[in-house]
Amino acid sequence: MENINMGGKIVMVTGATNGIGKITALELAKMGATVVLVGRNPIKTAKVMAEFQQTLGGKGKLDSIIGDLSSLADIHSVAQTFLSKYDRLDVLVNNAGGFFSKRLESVDGYEMTFALNHLNYFLLTKLLLEVLKKSAPARIVNVSSAAHFGNSINFNDLQRKQKYNSWRVYAESKLMNILFTRSLAQRLEGTGVTVNALHPGFVATSFGHGKGMMGFATKIAQKIFAISPQEGAQTTIFLASSPQVAGVTGKYFGKCQEQKPTVQALDDIAAEKLWQISEEIVQKQV
Ligand SMILES: NC(=O)c1ccc[n+]([C@@H]2O[C@H](COP(=O)([O-])OP(=O)(O)OC[C@H]3O[C@@H](n4cnc5c(N)ncnc54)[C@H](OP(=O)(O)O)[C@@H]3O)[C@@H](O)[C@H]2O)c1
Repeated sequence: MENINMGGKIVMVTGATNGIGKITALELAKMGATVVLVGRNPIKTAKVMAEFQQTLGGKGKLDSIIGDLSSLADIHSVAQTFLSKYDRLDVLVNNAGGFFSKRLESVDGYEMTFALNHLNYFLLTKLLLEVLKKSAPARIVNVSSAAHFGNSINFNDLQRKQKYNSWRVYAESKLMNILFTRSLAQRLEGTGVTVNALHPGFVATSFGHGKGMMGFATKIAQKIFAISPQEGAQTTIFLASSPQVAGVTGKYFGKCQEQKPTVQALDDIAAEKLWQISEEIVQKQV
């Protein structure tokens, strides 16, 4: 990785208490950025902050905000807390996400994968967009996944009330991350705010460690095939900090390089439909 100075920059990382997000937050703090960690568990978040300070010799510029990002009210509260303390945001890393082997609903009554992996990115970004524009050049980084390959969005049953296939639902949520990135990049043209999506690789984190066969199989597969969280965070860190991607927007990356997305990920009609549906949902909640 290049020697990059992020001094004076304010960065928010969601899902900063584990896996890819935790390494991303620490590495950006090492570059001198003020890093705002968003975590759902106050005790775990405080522990991670203390661990970071130890690593950084007490010199880390760290802050934290607590919120369950599957809840629309909590997303509002995270954004409000941030805006009450800071008047700029240089980088927003939307990373918090999950895989749910059984159909669950969020507190707002949306299917949990859709709520956490998509609505979270959509609403948090929307609420922070003005401060990002004010801080331009600024960046938004959306952690997606190659799991989106070969999938399209089932708009007929977005909430999965008819049939729940955990892997398919996860894959579609990660396709949503790319479609959202494309739509947002178009809307942000000329503002100096860029937005890109990425696949981190198959990474040995807590991802997919649910109960049952799927959780067991994921742990075994991670032991054999997965890369470390340190390696898995590299593309996120690259997109958040590298001068090489200044001005690059609306793209999909893997291994710190632009990659060709699938036909479904280039579908601007689906992207716009998803945007309108998401907009209606988050408007209802205000
Ligand atoms: N691991 C992979 O192979 C892989 C591959 C492709 C894409 N990804 C993507 O990478 C991103 C990060 O995943 P990871 O592998 O680092 O997984 P992870 O180790 O499970 O970390 C997920 C992070 O998100 C947080 N989080 C989960 N639910 C949340 C909620 N409701 N509200 C707020 N925060 C919540 C977790 O908090 P706690 O610490 O409290 O649990 C944790 O900090 C996800 O978007 C995932 O889809 C991962």
